Amino acid sequence: MSIKHFMITLDGPAGAGKSTVARNLAKRLSISYLDTGAMYRALTLKALRLKIKLDDEKALTGLARKTVIDFKEMPDGSLHVTLDGEDVAEAIRSIEVTNHTFHAARTAAVRAMMVNAQRAIARHRSFVTDGRDQGTVVFPKADYKFYIDADLRERVHRRHRELKEAGEAVDAAQLKKDMQERDHKDFSRVVGPLKKAEDAIVIDSTGLNVQQTVDKVMTYIKT
Ligand code: C5P
Repeated sequence: MSIKHFMITLDGPAGAGKSTVARNLAKRLSISYLDTGAMYRALTLKALRLKIKLDDEKALTGLARKTVIDFKEMPDGSLHVTLDGEDVAEAIRSIEVTNHTFHAARTAAVRAMMVNAQRAIARHRSFVTDGRDQGTVVFPKADYKFYIDADLRERVHRRHRELKEAGEAVDAAQLKKDMQERDHKDFSRVVGPLKKAEDAIVIDSTGLNVQQTVDKVMTYIKT
């Protein structure tokens, strides 16, 4: 299936399955997938490496200004995030980066740069994007907007499995605490908070596997 310039946004809390669903959906529709969380993560990785104080908004904004975050296309068509040219697709998934990304996400000037970059990337190509503010702020005129949710227990369970598969030892109770904290920060920040767009379609992925969730999303998409 191939379609002309097309935007589909997926927003929702961590662990709801957005990125896996987005990747699969993009594949089915033969369009690209833009992982916007990877951009906030990449900047955070750089700040951590350089030991820049993450709660210093001025320093973080200055760092963002001289940082090039982009995506490079892999042979299988997927996009890997690059940080000043370095492929950091794996490094940005660490728990340390995950738990520190809220600083970049709540800094207004950083968000403005990320939003501009996301719009520029998606200007000439069809994309499925996933994030927190995609349907509300970045692509308010998207062709389809989805809000992917799942109950906390299942989200924790999924993340736990993912991290275990990646070889990271994590305590499920701690993970649950981290995730609740991250949810709270995502919902309550002043700029670009996680919010369902008024015209977004809510998909509850609790109890559904990736295929079933993608199938459910696909029932709404007319090509
Ligand atoms: O989606 P992912 O879990 O990789 O995102 C990492 C963090 O980046 C989120 O917890 C959120 O705070 C932030 N984020 C954001 N806006 C986006 C995507 C991610 O603030 N569009």
